[in-house]
Amino acid sequence: MKRHINIAIDGPSGSGKSTLAKNLAKRFGLVYIDTGALYRTVGLYVRKQGVSSDDREGIIRCLEKIDIKMTLENGGNAVYLNGTKIGDEIRTPVASVYASDVSKIPEVRAFLLDIQRETARNNDCVMDGRDIGTVILPDADVKIFLHASDDDRAERRYGELTQKGQDVKLEDIKNDMTKRDANDRNRDIAPAVPASDAIVFDNSGFAEEQTLEKAAEIIRKTIQTV
Ligand code: DC
Repeated sequence: MKRHINIAIDGPSGSGKSTLAKNLAKRFGLVYIDTGALYRTVGLYVRKQGVSSDDREGIIRCLEKIDIKMTLENGGNAVYLNGTKIGDEIRTPVASVYASDVSKIPEVRAFLLDIQRETARNNDCVMDGRDIGTVILPDADVKIFLHASDDDRAERRYGELTQKGQDVKLEDIKNDMTKRDANDRNRDIAPAVPASDAIVFDNSGFAEEQTLEKAAEIIRKTIQTV
């Protein structure tokens, strides 16, 4: 059986990973998989149970009651939590903190591993996350680690959230983001760092189109058949 094309896009929040991954999916006819949505969904369940985000044992107990499914819809992935489709409730600042906190727990990462690998095994896809190139898909065809300056990233995230109608302040976004990134980067398990064979791409000051063109060029050079 022909192996599917897998492209890994990792990097900190606000680096433009999801926008780039969506655009690449369209450009190359791939499925876009947002793995952060899985951690956000676990975080949502934990929070709804009234379990604190630093209650490790409580979070691990929650996993027994969580059934997560991913379906492919409109070129991307939808996530179902115990049969209910998850929407924008996982995109709030508090949901981001919960997602980052639950993602430090090895049992949570193990719980979400198979669903990610299986999706990649069955689809030509571009997957965005923190550990796709290092842990989930070490044999990905192309690995890009996308990052940008703190100011650029905070402004992008601010733009996204205010466009969705959320009442947020740029300064708060920047503080939350730098804290969360340190949390993701310095954790013991699957830290958000580039794989040794990843192409590190700093897109500070780049418009969305420029980021797409540069990444598309990296991909074409690496996989001559796309
Ligand atoms: O990509 P995102 O901002 O939606 O991710 C939310 C959190 O989930 C992020 O702070 C860290 C965690 N995460 C992870 O640990 N590994 C991934 N592959 C994706 C996300």
